[in-house]
Amino acid sequence: MKVCWRSPQAPGGKSTGCRSKASMSATFKLQCHFILIVLVALRGEGRYLELREAADQDRFLLFGSDLKRALEGEQPYRRALRCLDLLSLPGQFTFTAARPQLHCAAFFISEPEEFISVRYDAVAIDCQGGDFLQVFDGWILKGEKFPSSQDHPLPTTERYVDFCKSGLSRRTIRSSQNVAMVFFRVQEPGNGFTLTITTDPNLFPCNVISQTPNGRFSLVVPHQHRNCSFSIIYPAAIKISDLTLGHFRGLPFKKPSVGCAGVGDFVELLGGTGLDPSKMTPLAGLCHPFHGPAQMKIACDNTVVRMVSSGQHINRVTFEYRQLEPYELESPDGNSIREFCLSPL
Ligand SMILES: *[C@@H]1O[C@H](CO)[C@@H](O)[C@H](O)[C@H]1NC(C)=O
Repeated sequence: MKVCWRSPQAPGGKSTGCRSKASMSATFKLQCHFILIVLVALRGEGRYLELREAADQDRFLLFGSDLKRALEGEQPYRRALRCLDLLSLPGQFTFTAARPQLHCAAFFISEPEEFISVRYDAVAIDCQGGDFLQVFDGWILKGEKFPSSQDHPLPTTERYVDFCKSGLSRRTIRSSQNVAMVFFRVQEPGNGFTLTITTDPNLFPCNVISQTPNGRFSLVVPHQHRNCSFSIIYPAAIKISDLTLGHFRGLPFKKPSVGCAGVGDFVELLGGTGLDPSKMTPLAGLCHPFHGPAQMKIACDNTVVRMVSSGQHINRVTFEYRQLEPYELESPDGNSIREFCLSPL
């Protein structure tokens, strides 16, 4: 099965090679799309073939939640971990170096309403010799983090757990959202490690990366002084159907004159090219509660719905999103409108 490929030098959108087959499941599209981003980021020519082959073999990721549910009641899902990998199912994953592997990363993603736990079952790496195995609470791609350091509850240094420093004293590491990753280097052939990935329910998901390019979500921030981002790693149309911001309840309705500046609680739509919402461009701000529909198309590689909360209220925003079609990424004069994402309005 050869559905997804693109020369790393090819110009244009990163999902070019992944759109054509309507039959592909959303998860596979994500995997495909994501691996392309990672490929571009790592600029590893040799890995390119390796990954395409890997995608061919890994049919399990093609199946939907039915299989997932079935698997949960059965034996844990087990498979080998590759030097560059994306996993969206819980299970047990073993990496064994066939040759020295210096720059490896495995990205984990679960449903929005889940935390991810990474447990070391067995580790045989040579820390003194320069090997490493680190779990990161979030994703990092091209130097950009999700969640951004501003929105994550922990300081950046505490988001890394280094096996070579903490050993098995921190055997299970739980993420703060639906994404996590491990970085590793294993130089001696035959060395490696085994990890078990599990998920736990998260009642109020705050920072989320969507597994799918289309969907619907309600972001609820109940009396918490924190900012939450829902990230769609595609150009997307966002349709907000409902916005509740507590700060107008019982108070005289007063319209601030310009944007949302000075308002404690609001929702903003961001667009950009990287993962980090704090580096993305605010394209719209919504600081008044309303019902139904307000739509915006964001023709950037990444789209984020971000809620800023003072903690004094219960805030909620409900939205639908869908990936933009190729024709929607063109402006009327035929030029790509992605430049729009690069410069502030
Ligand atoms: C949330 O974001 C706003 C504006 O982006 C910032 O002023 C505020 O300090 C942030 N709050 C927290 C808890 O990080």
